Amino acid sequence: MIYVAIMGFGVVGSGVYEVMKKNSSHIAVKSMQDLEIKYILDKREFDDPEIASKLVHDFEVIEKDPEVRIAVESIGGTGAAYEFTKRLLSAGKHVVTSNKELVAKHGYELLKIASSRGVNYMFEASVGGGIPIIRPMIQCLSANEIEEIYGIMNGTTNFILTKMFEDGLTFEKALEEAKALGYAEQNPADDVEGHDACRKICILSSLAFGRHIRPEQVRCEGILSVTPDDVRYAAQAGLAVKLLGRYVRISDGRICAYVAPHLVDKNDPVSSVNDVFNAIVVKGNAVGEVMFYGRGAGKLPTASAVVADVIDAARHIDKTKNVDLWDDSGDFVEDSRVLRGRYYVRAEGSLSRAREIFGEIKPISGEMGGECVFITGETDGFDFEEKLEKFLRNAQVFSTIRVLK
Ligand code: HSE
Repeated sequence: MIYVAIMGFGVVGSGVYEVMKKNSSHIAVKSMQDLEIKYILDKREFDDPEIASKLVHDFEVIEKDPEVRIAVESIGGTGAAYEFTKRLLSAGKHVVTSNKELVAKHGYELLKIASSRGVNYMFEASVGGGIPIIRPMIQCLSANEIEEIYGIMNGTTNFILTKMFEDGLTFEKALEEAKALGYAEQNPADDVEGHDACRKICILSSLAFGRHIRPEQVRCEGILSVTPDDVRYAAQAGLAVKLLGRYVRISDGRICAYVAPHLVDKNDPVSSVNDVFNAIVVKGNAVGEVMFYGRGAGKLPTASAVVADVIDAARHIDKTKNVDLWDDSGDFVEDSRVLRGRYYVRAEGSLSRAREIFGEIKPISGEMGGECVFITGETDGFDFEEKLEKFLRNAQVFSTIRVLK
């Protein structure tokens, strides 16, 4: 018998409890032994007698109980979750988490502690909710040099974009629904301002590049600047608006990583990924492109990934796996403006003036003057900003969005 503790009984923690209970006999077969939840750590009280019988308010009960071999950290954030994870790993317990903020900020240190103590720190649920993406990056794609990763990595913002622009909901109403469905972060600004996607691209980039890439090294923009007009014009040009995280390997020692809204061609499979679904494309230099798709947030999809890690930890109870996933960080992240690409521009002004400044453009609207909407030719971000600056002298710019590819 292996005893497990769940720390934090919110959306994810209660989902883990539900899945472990519902699928217990199947999980025992996969784990090659019985698993039992011994403790649930939470500040609150619960009426359910079974949950109440396992409930503890004092972390030290878990830390000091030698019977607990695996702990699920579903507290979130980098306060108590960071402290407890360090202490549990140091005490020789395996820790499984969905906490992307903690992995993105302190993954290197926590992985080091885990390997020094002969245990595992596992985080399959930290990116893409229920989608298997961490294990494929560590194992199945390990023969490849990863050249690029891009994808929809935040379910809440994809849900909001879908509800606003396909179902006509207001931003506030769409966000309320995302919260009610358990998709949004405790602070939903983390979703809509792009910080959550930023943490996820940091984790994937660290796995791809083998060095810790930290959120503060990654340019991050959310969905707040995207307007219904932009979505309508984009659709006219056969493009969809998606919030993407992106990693590009520029050379052996340099990479770019950033989060921003993009216009995605309707022929790209990512463009038709809606609702809470995530889709992540990984390009390896041997395999070519692979795409991972599924529910990126929500109670049971996230619990599915967490419980898979619990099973894996149980199967490797006296072993370490996935040690040294990445090295410490350094100065190797380039400004994402070095990447070449096209840009969508919506401005008050004329297409003829736009042509004078940007050269060849693809007009979407505005042959008659007034508001003009166009897509530039391929350029890098610095050159684009310089030209935009010139254009701004005679025109008010309403929005600019990077076009993917
Ligand atoms: N708030 C996150 C999202 C939860 O919407 O994707 C899953 O990481």
